[in-house]
Amino acid sequence: MSLLRVEHLAVAHGGLQALWDINLTVEPGERIGLLGANGAGKSTTLGAIVGYYPTMGGRILFEETDIGRESVAARLERGVVLVPEGRRLFAAMSVRENLEMGAFLAAPRRQRAATLDQVLSLFPILKEKAAQPAGTLSGGQQQMVAIGRALMAKPRLLLLDEPFIGVAPLIIRDVLVALSAIADTGVTVLLVEQNTHRALEFVRRASVIENGRTVLDADRETLRNDKGFGAKFLGLD
Ligand SMILES: Nc1ncnc2c1ncn2[C@@H]1O[C@H](COP(=O)(O)OP(=O)(O)OP(=O)(O)O)[C@@H](O)[C@H]1O
Ligand SMILES: [Mg+2]
Repeated sequence: MSLLRVEHLAVAHGGLQALWDINLTVEPGERIGLLGANGAGKSTTLGAIVGYYPTMGGRILFEETDIGRESVAARLERGVVLVPEGRRLFAAMSVRENLEMGAFLAAPRRQRAATLDQVLSLFPILKEKAAQPAGTLSGGQQQMVAIGRALMAKPRLLLLDEPFIGVAPLIIRDVLVALSAIADTGVTVLLVEQNTHRALEFVRRASVIENGRTVLDADRETLRNDKGFGAKFLGLD
């Protein structure tokens, strides 16, 4: 049974249709990428999966159950958790408070202390900064808080929307190591990333969106050897 299956998804922002035909299957435990140019529809796809945007067509299945009309909270309860573009932290609140906010549903709240320990051992720097306002942290540290907050919700499917924007290259490596550790615990990871080279270091398979439509879906070796894909996304001749 697949963990997530998106079939012929269509979404509009107001009167403007952004997604026309998105198709995506994610297996349990997989690390998968969602690639595409600016404005292709990557964030809209993630937003539709977590329930921020209503679907106007198609289906979103989580473990074969159609969740396309469920509330954001109901999907969160199933373990569908987004690390949003731009992190969206509460800058004046402490790192610890930002993290704890991720565990607001009943089940994660019961495990809050233990999960917090796991997050702080995954990102030791956050232990030192736990009492500081999140807004005082560097871009990379703030991204760690955003990922940590998502982990506090006990994700089964973790969706990340361009987590490396505003993160220094050396720190990107740390975050990638942490993401691998997260994936190794059995969390399924769907990564949206503009830098295709970097994305392909982490994911084993990727799906490509153009103008709101899925145009390609293949394992990374196939993508790296695909001339059209290489020319468009890897800067190869
Ligand atoms: N809130 C919104 N209101 C109106 N149009 C929107 C909104 N969000 C996105 N769009 C439009 O929907 C289309 C898809 O945008 P989306 O943000 O999903 O793309 P993206 O692939 O995430 O791009 P980027 O790489 O720039 O983040 C674009 O044409 C965009 O202008
Ligand atoms: Mg986006």
